[in-house]
Amino acid sequence: MEVRTVCGSITEVEADAIVVNLCEGVTQPGGATGAADRALLGLIGQLIASGEIKGKLHEVTVIHSAGRVPAMRVVVAGLGKSDQFDLERVRQVMGAVARRLQGKGVRTLATIVHGAGIGGLDPAAAAQQCVQGAFLGAFRTETHTTGEAPPELERLLVVEQDAGKLAEMEPAVARGEVIGEETDLARYLTNEPSNLLTPRVLAEKAEAACRELGLACQVLGPDEIRELGMNAMLAVARGSDEPCQLIVMRYQAEGARGTLGVVGKGITFDTGGINIKPSEGMERMRGDMAGGADVLAIMRIVARLQPALNVIGVIGATENMPSGHASKPGDVVRSLSGKTIEIDNMDAEGRLVLADCLEYARREGAQRLVDLATLAGATVTALGHVAAGMTANNPEWAEQVKAAAARAGEKVWQMPLYPEYRELLKSMVADISNHSGRPAGAVTGAAFLSEFAGDTPWAHLDIAGTSWSEQDKPYAAKGPTGAGIGTVMELIGSLAG
Ligand code: BES
Ligand code: ZN
Ligand code: MN
Repeated sequence: MEVRTVCGSITEVEADAIVVNLCEGVTQPGGATGAADRALLGLIGQLIASGEIKGKLHEVTVIHSAGRVPAMRVVVAGLGKSDQFDLERVRQVMGAVARRLQGKGVRTLATIVHGAGIGGLDPAAAAQQCVQGAFLGAFRTETHTTGEAPPELERLLVVEQDAGKLAEMEPAVARGEVIGEETDLARYLTNEPSNLLTPRVLAEKAEAACRELGLACQVLGPDEIRELGMNAMLAVARGSDEPCQLIVMRYQAEGARGTLGVVGKGITFDTGGINIKPSEGMERMRGDMAGGADVLAIMRIVARLQPALNVIGVIGATENMPSGHASKPGDVVRSLSGKTIEIDNMDAEGRLVLADCLEYARREGAQRLVDLATLAGATVTALGHVAAGMTANNPEWAEQVKAAAARAGEKVWQMPLYPEYRELLKSMVADISNHSGRPAGAVTGAAFLSEFAGDTPWAHLDIAGTSWSEQDKPYAAKGPTGAGIGTVMELIGSLAG
């Protein structure tokens, strides 16, 4: 989908559909919606009066314009209650519109920016979320069906009447396009079956991205990973016939304000290893590389938007399989950091891979760290698919991550890192155990990782719940969401200044 900013009046734009909006409870539409209503001889007002249009959040009403405006359809998008409107809802509103129009022959869609000004929303931020929302709603998960694919949205026009606002709008729209497009790539990768997206295929995608966008790329295979001493990652990879890959992508900025390490869990399939998972729902574990997919997308976005910050992306990619050469509960390995780990449970594999990847990113010069990982089912129990669990070893860094999430319209909830949780991970035989049973399951994984972040400011985003939606939503198909990318991009923005 190609995106452009256009100056003019929405009712005069040539498109297959134009989008205006309505807050819940409003009976006399004003602004662009009022203009569309007048062009339609009061039809929108009549539909409000008759109760068909209520302005409820995610409500989408398609009116056929019968030549009253150049566009064949006028879409009225409900914004919900104005005092509850925020950036996440801007994205969802546009997602609901795009999802509704998908496959209906709409190739060019023109929209005003929803919610600019409502509740003090920044117009540029709203414009960006509008564009991201169109990508969110238009994304399709049926990538392996045969037969003819339905026609896609080809063009999105963001229409601004005030020429004075264009200079502020255009970069925000462009940013939304880049982030929306790459988030959909992460969603595609997350949904890809594990037979097609092996660690090597993921590494090839990263290499191709780096070639295309001018990033430095390094892919280390099992021999090099062993040579380096990343035995925690290797302990996971051992059980698989697919070679594991450490994927390192580097973006170097002009006048960079420091170096951020972004680390992703890239388990292309998590069977649970010798601690094998129950079969019900196991197919979902093809998405256990959502964090890694996020990192790949983030590096692509960074390469395209060129912030003034060095970013190192590290993805630990491997399968977690049971086999005759798989690691067994009670095995002990020496991690890259030098700390020894007793592997009590092979299903707690993400933390093993990430322990070595965090240490690797530190050695490569990361001054701050953030990791994205589908780490713990207990995070889904605690927060559902609504909010990501966040843990940090540094209060100031934690606040920065929370502020970034708010600006991205993503929900994160901070979990505590009390020293008592570390005590749960005491091992009889090694420096630390990777498992401590059910209590505090949404925290102990992070407590384990904090040992490997050392004194580097580090934040962990557990996207086990948020990276995947279990239901179709009006604004997005069920399945992969790309959660976390927006937050990290805002974080990068705040560090780059
Ligand atoms: N990949 C899973 C976590 C997960 C569960 C992600 C559900 C998405 C949806 C992770 O590797 C895992 O298996 N964690 C264990 C940890 C336990 C053994 C301490 C879990 O959640 O049971
Ligand atoms: Zn896992
Ligand atoms: Mn697991």
